[in-house]
Amino acid sequence: MSGSGSNSLWGSRFEGGPSEALAALSRSVHFDWRLASYDIAGSLAHIKALHQAGYLTTPELEALTRHLEELRKRVESGQFSPKPSDEDVHGALERGLIEIAGPELGGKVRAGRSRNDQIANLIRMYLLDSSDVIEAQVLDLIRVLCDRAEEHMGVAMPGRTHFQHAQPVLLSHHLMAHAWPLVRDLERMADWRKRAKLSPYGAGALAGSTLGLDPALVAAELGFDGVTQNSMDATASRDVVAEFSFISSLIGINLSRFAEEIIIWASAEFDYVKLDDAFSTGSSIMPQKKNPDIAELARGKAGRLIGDLTGLLATLKGLPLSYNRDLQEDKEPVFDAVDTLIVLLPAFTGMVATLTFNRNRLERLAPEGFSLATDVAEWLVKQRVPFRDAHEITGKLVSFCEANELELHQVPDADLAAISNKLTPEVRQVLSVDGSIRSRSGAGGTALPRVLEQIATLRKFVIRREGV
Ligand code: ARG
Repeated sequence: MSGSGSNSLWGSRFEGGPSEALAALSRSVHFDWRLASYDIAGSLAHIKALHQAGYLTTPELEALTRHLEELRKRVESGQFSPKPSDEDVHGALERGLIEIAGPELGGKVRAGRSRNDQIANLIRMYLLDSSDVIEAQVLDLIRVLCDRAEEHMGVAMPGRTHFQHAQPVLLSHHLMAHAWPLVRDLERMADWRKRAKLSPYGAGALAGSTLGLDPALVAAELGFDGVTQNSMDATASRDVVAEFSFISSLIGINLSRFAEEIIIWASAEFDYVKLDDAFSTGSSIMPQKKNPDIAELARGKAGRLIGDLTGLLATLKGLPLSYNRDLQEDKEPVFDAVDTLIVLLPAFTGMVATLTFNRNRLERLAPEGFSLATDVAEWLVKQRVPFRDAHEITGKLVSFCEANELELHQVPDADLAAISNKLTPEVRQVLSVDGSIRSRSGAGGTALPRVLEQIATLRKFVIRREGV
């Protein structure tokens, strides 16, 4: 055996080599090569466990450590790279190590581990590192949302339900409403880490190792908090990958919800925002165009992230214990999720950071669509009118306004009184956007002091997470 063939890790009991077709189907090195540095880190930890259990002498441990460091250098510089004949990252790196250490010493490293526990470990290490990058990017976006909210503090805009004008809100309140879901996504990520930070190393192929190697040593070397409790579960389960993918999808969905609004806000009909030139695109045929491509891509990528998740879930469904080769299909979708978020988040954050809000227009539209009608009804309740009647009186007022093309505050006193004797001129106190917003001062409301509190809480969250 040449040592570089696709069956080099398992070929000895086979008479012939694998068919071309099998090799082509089976090969994963073109995507699992991104796990190379984790595989080497795993081997560095594993040889310590082999040494501790007496399978490597101290000089052998030292030599192998040097050789693995040399291999790491060659991988990083590109001097060593996988060949088409390498089946996967594990086989390629064993070939690389043997090139440096020779077959005798290099061939000792594989004792006491299986690609099944290796791969279960490597994917966790990779996702833990990736989650750090994604978390930092999400924190950037939350920080930018806080900045923008502070910058436009006090600006009112139409708040909507069913996409119809409902009640005026502060623009800052609206922006913060897009920050909180991201905070929860990061909290989910932090919780996920507790489960991801357990090392499957030592599970072997499925039943554990006979060599008396210490999995806790390997786990500690690799920065895990502990070891998994069941070798079959450790090698067969990918819920840690699925959960990461779910959180990635939710981040994508949360960006997409905001993206949809930005697309609408940037239209001529809405004209709530202008996109910065650096974060929008033109048209090859229509010179006047300025397109919200980042927001549209965010919306599109959310679909892709959901696809990554559902593909993985479908792969996992119905797999008997323990390892099955189907599990190789976990990697491409979750790698895609990581790549997608890492390229999307900075662009999205840049777009939000550079949006110009049309403050005058937002303020002007805030009271339109009878958005102060609830304030009228609640004012009536404060005058001890039962809400049922208050709702009806306000409804009549709104239809009077519609019929006469008036806004609520434009109705003359006499007409107010004609609609209901409860509608005294004092009702005008609440017929202002400012008054309406100020009065929504309960916890979580849009009143300015409440929004300032939210921003302060979010800023503390960002600082705390960045400190971790
Ligand atoms: N490439 C495989 C995967 O990604 C690694 C484990 C292969 N194990 C095996 N016994 N064929 O899952």
